[in-house]
Amino acid sequence: MQLEVLPLESPKPRPDESNLTFGKQFTDRMFVMDYLTGQGWHNPRIQPYQPFVLDPAAMVLHYAQEIFEGMKAFRRPDGKIALFRPMDNFQRMNCGARRMCMPEIDETFMLSALKELIRLEGDWVPRAEGTSLYIRPAMIATESMLGVRPADQYLFFIILCPVGAYYKGGLAPVKIWISDHYVRAAHGGTGEVKTGGNYAASLYAAREAAAKGYDQVLWLDAREKRHVEEVGSMNMCFIYDGKLVTSPLHGTILDGITRRSVLALARGMGVAVEEQALTVDEIFEGVESGRLSEAFGTGTAVVISPVGQFTYQDKTVVIGDGKTTGPLTQRLYDTLTGIQYGRQPDVHGWVELL
Ligand code: COI
Repeated sequence: MQLEVLPLESPKPRPDESNLTFGKQFTDRMFVMDYLTGQGWHNPRIQPYQPFVLDPAAMVLHYAQEIFEGMKAFRRPDGKIALFRPMDNFQRMNCGARRMCMPEIDETFMLSALKELIRLEGDWVPRAEGTSLYIRPAMIATESMLGVRPADQYLFFIILCPVGAYYKGGLAPVKIWISDHYVRAAHGGTGEVKTGGNYAASLYAAREAAAKGYDQVLWLDAREKRHVEEVGSMNMCFIYDGKLVTSPLHGTILDGITRRSVLALARGMGVAVEEQALTVDEIFEGVESGRLSEAFGTGTAVVISPVGQFTYQDKTVVIGDGKTTGPLTQRLYDTLTGIQYGRQPDVHGWVELL
């Protein structure tokens, strides 16, 4: 496939880097390509960022056949731009495509097209501390048809936005509400797929949590409602008896790329890693007895986000003073962001320079 680059007529003004919010401002250009059964992916192009024209019967609007990804580009001290594990994202997207009966993409072609897009939009990769360029690839079913079956027509696109911290409080520990009623995913479902429906289904509980003053909902397993799953926008990690404990990948939670990276970094630091789902009781008893010393979430958007307190029904536990990031959480954050921003050596080969 030949990538076409269409002219850009009117570049937008750049946002104020000291005041970047998450996912509100988009760059000048985007990548787009089309798919038709029988023809495959075609017409890959980099074009000005603009709205799509969709038929009201486009299948994504009715049956949510959609997948997406989240990755980032970082500005390094020497001015160069680095992508972090982009092939992992394209491979994960293809796993999602198979589960959602959508066409797979050519990962190698996508990496070169993404690099070209970032090269053209290089000036949008922010320079301020803690900022990055968030990359959102997505695929939607565009065929006009109201029957329930996999579509024959799709659109794949990548949009970019310069971002600051995901949570308003930056690296300040977040407050988490553990839902004893709502569930996010069950075995055999689509919990491990980055598909919009999982996020839509989480909004009701998230709104309830926000109304009570919490930042996020921690989901429990659908069967027993006892075991920790994930927090929609992040995987969860606990420092328990000095080990890093995180829920295993059984198909109901996202196989997070930041999760993968943090587990590898922890092992490299000599910290034992256990992929085992803690129960709510273990969280509460663990904090009370001192066995659970730190908790944090991991995700591309949130990076590493310390947790200051958990509430379940009418019980709350506060980790440490609820305001301070734990020492191992901080060390993992410094090492991960050190690799991403080029302040630390990339011994794992995760960084893809442009
Ligand atoms: C990410 O971390 O990239 C995500 O996609 C999570 C979220 C913003 C939905």
